[in-house]
Amino acid sequence: MAILPIITYPNSILEKKTKKISDPKATEIKQLILGMLETLKNSGGVGLAAPQIGNSLRLSIIQIDGKTHILINPKFKYKSWKKIVIEEGCLSFPGVFFPVKRHSKVTIENLNKDGSKKIIKAEGLFAQALQHEIDHLDGILFISRKVKTKKS
Ligand code: CO
Repeated sequence: MAILPIITYPNSILEKKTKKISDPKATEIKQLILGMLETLKNSGGVGLAAPQIGNSLRLSIIQIDGKTHILINPKFKYKSWKKIVIEEGCLSFPGVFFPVKRHSKVTIENLNKDGSKKIIKAEGLFAQALQHEIDHLDGILFISRKVKTKKS
């Protein structure tokens, strides 16, 4: 599977809400996941959402702490009241980094590659990545969550 070109901002597909995947076991979904994994690995980034490679589907991948998480139709079950501000970047905004406010803990419901349901609990950087990726699937970009800092 070849490395796919990553769509950069501005592009309307990045701000469009994605469609749910009806069959996670479909061959084209498996192929898409393989392509995304290779593309993310090559990019050096933490996460990649399907719209970033031109597919408006509810699919995203995260590679963090040596683990790969494939998010198929993910949705939030819990978001902590407590929020944290951390520096964030996005493969669709090369070289752009700024602080973003995120929930410090989240729980999501996700589908496994075989279509079974899975609950993922996360905190810290993993929780941040999950929120960034699910935002992508809702057509929300991190620039809209930028924390306004006082000018010194
Ligand atoms: Co991103």
